[in-house]
Amino acid sequence: MSQLALNGGARSVPAQPGKIAWPIVTPEDKAAVQRVLDRGVLWAMTTLTGLNCPEQDALEREFAEFLGVPYALAVNGGTAGLHMALVAAGVEAGDEVITSAFSFLATPAAILHAGAIPVFVDVDPRTWNIDPQRIAEKITPRTRAILAVDIHGLCADWDAILELARRHNLLVLEDACQAPGASYRGCPAGSFGRAAGFSVNGTKNFAVGEGGFMVTSDAEILARGAWLKQVGETLPADNPAMRQQHLLAWNYRVQEMPCAFARSQLRRLAAVNQTARRNAAIVDGYLRETPGLRGPYIPDGCVSVYHKYRITLVPEELDTPLRGVELRDAFMAALGAEGVDVDLWGTAPLAAHPMIRARHGFGHGFPWRLAGAPESYTYRAEDYPVTLEMFANSFCLTNDEFPIYAQPEPVMHAYGRALQKVAQNARELAQAKVAAWQTAT
Ligand SMILES: Cc1ncc(COP(=O)(O)O)c(C=O)c1O
Repeated sequence: MSQLALNGGARSVPAQPGKIAWPIVTPEDKAAVQRVLDRGVLWAMTTLTGLNCPEQDALEREFAEFLGVPYALAVNGGTAGLHMALVAAGVEAGDEVITSAFSFLATPAAILHAGAIPVFVDVDPRTWNIDPQRIAEKITPRTRAILAVDIHGLCADWDAILELARRHNLLVLEDACQAPGASYRGCPAGSFGRAAGFSVNGTKNFAVGEGGFMVTSDAEILARGAWLKQVGETLPADNPAMRQQHLLAWNYRVQEMPCAFARSQLRRLAAVNQTARRNAAIVDGYLRETPGLRGPYIPDGCVSVYHKYRITLVPEELDTPLRGVELRDAFMAALGAEGVDVDLWGTAPLAAHPMIRARHGFGHGFPWRLAGAPESYTYRAEDYPVTLEMFANSFCLTNDEFPIYAQPEPVMHAYGRALQKVAQNARELAQAKVAAWQTAT
């Protein structure tokens, strides 16, 4: 057994391992952007106006086709797509929307922007997605919708969620921001609710920089989404001067250059997702032979796109007295010293964030006040023990700069060997002086 690099041993990952930085920009991507500059049309109205915005219109068609859903509207962020999805599907101010205790802050932010109240449900201890078994206990007469998240590129347990929603007459919406290309029992991420949001932020498998989509199979939701994207107005194709405002809405319009860039990137998305799956399978292979470490659990019938590859520590199987965050931080530090990229991606249940805890959405207790006494909604981290346990005992392999979906095979083999080395030498972790892991969420 070799000594850990953290304690002066040799690194297991070479100094120049051949990592690939993200995002990748190809000559075809550059040509796509140049095409827009040459054409000189830089911004885009909503598709339904029929006005000339060729990149946006083609991107919307191509993304819908890629997913296998009827309609997509390009917007300027995943948060915008989610917000639009909620409002277009009929969520109104004062409604309660049930969502996962574990997601990016944008999920509850979109709910709050709709004037609605996020009600969190703890996660399933194996998938880290919302636990359908715990949803029913959070349903009240004010509950309007369930917004489930396909976290880390793995679809939520949609059959159970849809069945529950049907029984309680609730709207279903999907945060598929991390999951373009994932599927559940043959159906694509983005197809499960009345509408879904996707992100193409630069850290995603589909990395445009900033941007997103609202997708739906409902023509009415599409039409409302098109208004919401465009400050609530329509511009009839035969007479664009006839502007009419139908709804209070936002400017979620996109620009032609990112749309052209996105079209070029979209042609590679299936290959990016394939690389993610290949690399996950490589690391899975190492972890299967390594007591103390578990890779992501993928239920039968699910195809993940591994936006994140989360590894769970099983302390009882490791030769170390360390436990919880202390062990996690020491393990991450040891991997870092071996030359492995690691990341936390989140540190606390959404309910623990100061804005939510203080119910300080729009100030003065809004939107909570709309649904009665703001004090009747309390948010405490300890109400989400499975999410807390997950954070204390897990971390993500790779980071936003060199993500798993971009790396060549030798890097993943080197990472697999390093994971085994640290696990096998876990006894040494207690000797090392390790600072608390300080990555922003
Ligand atoms: C789960 C989830 N929801 C929502 C978002 C928001 O997307 P964006 O950053 O594009 O607004 C993101 C990504 O950033 C996300 O990961």
